[in-house]
Amino acid sequence: MRRLLLVAAVPFAVAVAWSAAAPPRSDAQDAPPRPAGPAGPEAGCVECHERLNPLLVKQWRESAHAKAPSAVGCAACHGSAHQTENDARNAQRPTPKVCGECHEKQVKQFSGGKHALAQASVQAIPMLAGQPPAVRAMGCEACHSVGKAWPDGSVGRCDACHTRHAFSKEEARRPEACETCHMGEDHSQYEMWRSAKHGVIHHLDPTSGRAPACQTCHMQEGDHAVMTGWGFLGLRLPVPDEQWTKDTMTIVQAIGPWGRDEAGMKARVGAIAALKLARLDQPSFAEQRDKMLRVCAKCHSWSFGQQHLETADEVVRETTHLLAESVRVVEGLYADGILPKDPSQPRQLDLLLFYEAPTQIEQELYRMFLFHRQKAFQGAVHANADYMHWFGWAPMKSSAQRIRELAESMRREAAAAKAGGATPGK
Ligand code: HEC
Ligand code: HEC
Ligand code: HEC
Ligand code: HEC
Ligand code: HEC
Ligand code: HEC
Ligand code: HEC
Ligand code: HEC
Repeated sequence: MRRLLLVAAVPFAVAVAWSAAAPPRSDAQDAPPRPAGPAGPEAGCVECHERLNPLLVKQWRESAHAKAPSAVGCAACHGSAHQTENDARNAQRPTPKVCGECHEKQVKQFSGGKHALAQASVQAIPMLAGQPPAVRAMGCEACHSVGKAWPDGSVGRCDACHTRHAFSKEEARRPEACETCHMGEDHSQYEMWRSAKHGVIHHLDPTSGRAPACQTCHMQEGDHAVMTGWGFLGLRLPVPDEQWTKDTMTIVQAIGPWGRDEAGMKARVGAIAALKLARLDQPSFAEQRDKMLRVCAKCHSWSFGQQHLETADEVVRETTHLLAESVRVVEGLYADGILPKDPSQPRQLDLLLFYEAPTQIEQELYRMFLFHRQKAFQGAVHANADYMHWFGWAPMKSSAQRIRELAESMRREAAAAKAGGATPGK
C-alpha cells in the first residue's frame, strides 16, 4: 500500500512541470494578480491571443463553446487573473472541476470509471521510479495523464478525447480519439478493432452506424465511466474451476514485490481492488458482461454475442494456464537457488519489473506476459483472429518452450558448477 501514497506527491510534480513549461518572464514575480473580471468572451483575451495564436482562437470560435447563446469564453476556463503579456503564469489550468461547473454529469461519470485511476495505477508500478524524468513524462505518464490528479482534488484530462480548443463531441465519438493510447504492444485494441470486421465496415461506411466503434461498446449512452469485465490483464476472481483459480493466483503472486506471506498477499489484493485492476467478485463481472451483451444484441442475436464472449473467456483460461506454467518454471529456479536471491527483497520474481527484469529467462517471461498473452485474449474479445492467434497464442507457445529450455540449461550449469565446487549463480 505504501506505493499508493506516491500518488499524493503528484499534484506537486504537476504544478512544477506546468510552471517549468512557461517561458521565463523576469518581471512576472512582481506583477500582483489582478482582481477577477467578469466571465465570458471578455475584451482582452481574444484580441491579444488572436495575434499570438490565431489558429488556437479560430478553433475556439468554431466550437460549441463560442457558439453557445451565452458564449463560454477564455476566462470561463482560465480565469481572469492574467491580463497582460507579463502575467501569463496567473492563467488558470482548467481542471475537470472547472468543466464540472457546467458539465457535472460527465465529470461525475468519469470519476467513477477506470480512466480516473490511470495516474494512480501507473504510480503504483515500482519500476516507474527508476526511469529518467523525461522518459517518464513522455512515455508512461503521457498516456496515463488521462487520470491526472489535480491540486484542487479533481481528476482527469477531458482534453484526452475532446481536444482543445474545439472541445467537440463529434471528434470524441470517432474511434481515432482512443487510438493514441489504446494501441501498441500491450493494448493494441485500435489495431485489433480496425482490422476485424467491425473496424473494416466502420471504415468503409463510417456514418451508417452499421458497425460499432469503440464508443458504441465502451461508452454506451455517452457514459464516461469506462470499465470492462476482464480488465487490462485478463485476471479476475472467482473463476469457474480449481485449476483456473490456481493459475490466476500463481500470476497474481508474481505481480508486485509485496511479499509472499499472508500480509503481503493482503496488501497486493488491496492494491488490486483499490485500482480496480480486476473484478474481485462475480456480480461486478456479471454487471459488465451483461452491459456488453446488451450492445451486441442491438445488431446480433443474444446467443451470437454470448457464444462469442464465452469462447473468448476460454481463450483467457487457456492463456492464463500457459502463462502460469511458465511462471512456475521461473519460480522453481528461485526456490532451488539457481536464480540468485536478493536478501533485501522478500521475494524475487516480479512481472511488473517489465523490461527491467534482471535475467534472460525473466525477459522472455515478461514478453510472454505483457505482449503475447495480452494480444491473445484482447484479440479474442475484439473478434480479431490474427491477433488472437499469430500475434498472441503462437508466440506464447514459442516463449513457453524457450523458458523451459533456458531453465533446463540453467539447472545443468548449476549442477556442473556444484560438482566442480563453484557457487551456483556465480
Ligand atoms: C496583452 C496580451 C494578452 C492578454 C490581454 C491576455 N493574454 Fe493570455 N497570454 C499572453 C502572453 C504573451 C502569453 C504567453 C504566451 C507564450 O508563452 O508564448 C499568454 C499566455 C496565456 C495562457 C497560457 C498560460 C501559460 O502559463 O503559458 C493562457 C491560458 C492565457 N494566456 C489565457 C488568457 C486569458 C483567459 C485572457 C483573458 C482573461 C488572456 N490570456 C489575456 C498575452 C495576453
Ligand atoms: C472549455 C474550456 C476552455 C476554454 C473556453 C478555453 N480554454 Fe484554453 N485551455 C483549456 C484546457 C483544458 C487547456 C489545457 C491546459 C493544460 O494543459 O492543463 C487549455 C490550454 C490553453 C493554452 C496553453 C496550451 C496551448 O495549447 O497553447 C492557451 C494559450 C490557452 N488555453 C488559451 C485560451 C484562449 C486564448 C481562450 C479563448 C479564446 C481559451 N484558451 C479558451 C480549456 C479552455
Ligand atoms: C461556463 C460553462 C462551461 C464550462 C466551464 C465548460 N463548458 Fe463545455 N459547454 C458549455 C456549453 C454552454 C456548451 C454548449 C451547449 C451544450 O452542448 O450543452 C458546452 C458544450 C460542450 C461539449 C459538447 C460540444 C459539442 O460538440 O456539441 C463538450 C465536449 C464540452 N462542452 C466539454 C467541456 C470541457 C472538457 C470543459 C472543461 C475543460 C468544459 N466543457 C467547460 C458550457 C461550459
Ligand atoms: C490519453 C490516453 C487515453 C485515451 C485517449 C483513451 N484511453 Fe482508455 N485508458 C487509458 C488508460 C491509461 C487506461 C487504464 C486506466 C487505469 O490505469 O486504471 C484506460 C482504460 C480504458 C478502459 C478500461 C479497461 C479495463 O481495465 O477495464 C476502457 C474500456 C477504455 N480505456 C476505453 C477507451 C475508449 C473507448 C477511448 C476513446 C473514446 C479511450 N479509452 C481513450 C488511456 C486512454
Ligand atoms: C501508449 C500509451 C501508454 C503508455 C506509453 C503506457 N500505458 Fe499503461 N496503459 C495504457 C492503456 C490504454 C491501458 C489500459 C489498456 C487496457 O485496459 O487494455 C494501460 C494500462 C496500464 C495498467 C493497468 C491499469 C489497470 O488498473 O487496469 C498499468 C499498471 C500500466 N498501464 C502501467 C504503465 C507503465 C508502468 C507504463 C510505462 C512503463 C505504461 N503503462 C505506459 C496506455 C499506456
Ligand atoms: C475517453 C474519451 C473521453 C473523455 C476522456 C471525455 N469524454 Fe466527454 N465525450 C466522449 C464521447 C465519446 C462523447 C459523445 C457521447 C455520445 O455519444 O453522446 C462525449 C460527450 C461529452 C459531452 C457532450 C454531452 C452531450 O450529450 O452533448 C460533454 C459535455 C462532455 N463529453 C464532457 C466531458 C468532460 C467534462 C470530460 C472530463 C471529465 C470528458 N468529457 C472526458 C468521450 C470522452
Ligand atoms: C463490439 C464491441 C466492441 C468494440 C467495437 C470495441 N470493444 Fe473493446 N472490448 C469489447 C469486449 C466484449 C471486451 C471484453 C469485455 C470483458 O472483459 O468481458 C473489450 C475489452 C476492451 C478493453 C479491456 C482490455 C481488453 O482488451 O480485453 C479495452 C481497453 C478496450 N476493449 C478498448 C477498446 C477500444 C479502444 C476500441 C476501439 C478501437 C474497442 N475496445 C472496440 C468490445 C468491444
Ligand atoms: C452496430 C452493430 C453491431 C454491434 C453493436 C455489434 N456488432 Fe458484431 N458485427 C456487426 C456487423 C455488421 C458484422 C458483419 C457481419 C458479417 O460478417 O456479415 C459483425 C461481425 C461480427 C463478428 C465476426 C463476423 C462473424 O459473423 O463471425 C463477430 C464475432 C461479432 N460481430 C461479435 C460481436 C460482439 C461480441 C458484439 C458485442 C460485444 C458485437 N459484435 C456488436 C455489427 C455489430
